[in-house]
Amino acid sequence: MQAMACILTAQESPIIRAIAPSPSSMSSNQLDQKSQAWSALFSEPMSELVKRYTASVDFDKRLWRADIEGSLAHAEMLAAQGIIGAEDFARIEQGMEKIAHEIETGVFQWQLDLEDVHLNVEARLTSLVGDAGKRLHTGRSRNDQVATDVRLWLRGEIDRLAGLLAELQRALVAVAERHVDVILPGFTHLQVAQPVSFAHHLLAYVEMFARDAERLADVRRRVNRLPLGSAALAGTTYPLDRERVARTLKMVDDAGTPQLCQNSLDAVSDRDFAIEFTAAASLIMVHVSRLSEELILWMSQNFAFIRIADRFTTGSSIMPQKKNPDVPELARGKTGRVVGHLMGLITLMKGQPLAYNKDNQEDKEPLFDTVDTLADTLRIFAEMIGGQINPATGAREGGITVNAAAMRAAAAKGYATATDLADYLVKKGLPFRDAHEVVAHAVRSAQAKGVDLSEMALADLQAFDARIGADVFDVLSLAGSLAARNTLGGTAPAQVNAQIERQKRRLSMA
Ligand code: ARG
Repeated sequence: MQAMACILTAQESPIIRAIAPSPSSMSSNQLDQKSQAWSALFSEPMSELVKRYTASVDFDKRLWRADIEGSLAHAEMLAAQGIIGAEDFARIEQGMEKIAHEIETGVFQWQLDLEDVHLNVEARLTSLVGDAGKRLHTGRSRNDQVATDVRLWLRGEIDRLAGLLAELQRALVAVAERHVDVILPGFTHLQVAQPVSFAHHLLAYVEMFARDAERLADVRRRVNRLPLGSAALAGTTYPLDRERVARTLKMVDDAGTPQLCQNSLDAVSDRDFAIEFTAAASLIMVHVSRLSEELILWMSQNFAFIRIADRFTTGSSIMPQKKNPDVPELARGKTGRVVGHLMGLITLMKGQPLAYNKDNQEDKEPLFDTVDTLADTLRIFAEMIGGQINPATGAREGGITVNAAAMRAAAAKGYATATDLADYLVKKGLPFRDAHEVVAHAVRSAQAKGVDLSEMALADLQAFDARIGADVFDVLSLAGSLAARNTLGGTAPAQVNAQIERQKRRLSMA
């Protein structure tokens, strides 16, 4: 067993070159010097520029927890299979515990010379526990190691993001619940179309985010599969128990069945799971961006439908009257950034032959930035819309403020009930197309008089069609218009209340 680690070639494991011959007795300075001493295969050291160009440790050190978790699962299995000794595993565990502590407390010395997070952790392990550390990489390659690390890390982030996405939905539902009877103009083509409940409008976003959550859950299933055991590209000669590793790392389905990548070449090389995640993240951002656009419009003076708390706005350095919606504007802007990462990752994959290529090291920064941008955006939006829950009272405080009067006035101004008049005439026997034409004439005349349809005299309305009776004013009212749309998915308060109840159950809201 002792000799096993040594059969890894120098090319596969620069760490062996970097830390030879007796790492346990070397200081980190010596490590630096030694790292120049590449294996017999190399006749010159790497230039500083190339070192900087190829190293990833500055950013992939973020994967350290996943790296250690993956290594421990691998080492535990190696010991269980008798490939390394139980005492080796015990030392690896102790070493990793110390390393985790060093990283957490900021004393760990990350070295560019050691390229990436994997080699940094492994070198430190070997310096702490000697040969046991050198045995860790038995039956493993950085190729299946990094693919495992990214998947483990991303799985945790997906779970965190799913929680944040649920919080944003709860915030929207909470605001919706208080505004079922608030009427605003619904738009098509950004022209006043028909009145809708403000709650109904907000619930449209809850539906979008609910689908986004489904997408995340679906991506998670494919992220949660184990590449480890694929080694560099072809599998390994050691009798590994991959299912055991998968179980240790909780890479199992709902029934507890271990989820393994089934082809070693595919396992080490494809990053489609990262692309899929970034696509799902892009859609979330697109939905946030649409909401942002509406918030920006609604809080402009011309609409004045809502206000958002001052802490989400900024002033102008020159115009004292201004309160700018920087947060929604930035979210709209950052959507481009996340969609850009999707383009970056999908282009990164295109044209790569099997199996692993160093191109894949470029998957990390876009992935990290996607997660960070999305997490911050979701958190800030949940608070901006729904406010914060006061721990003393359990009530939400400080979300958006709704100006129901301005919404209603805008709906009343835009002939939003014209369709209702047409439907009224249809119910009195007129074919819909004819009714549409009659109402167009009526609206034109109302516009000329500068009044709403509901403000016209009955006699004036009857001039357009004799079937119009006094009961017409019920359908011309905004509330009547809303109440009439009482089919599933419609804006009638009864429907909206039912949807709120459904969403509250879905989101486990009290
Ligand atoms: N830092 C590398 C990455 O992120 C790790 C894998 C390196 N493998 C290799 N054969 N050079 O992809």
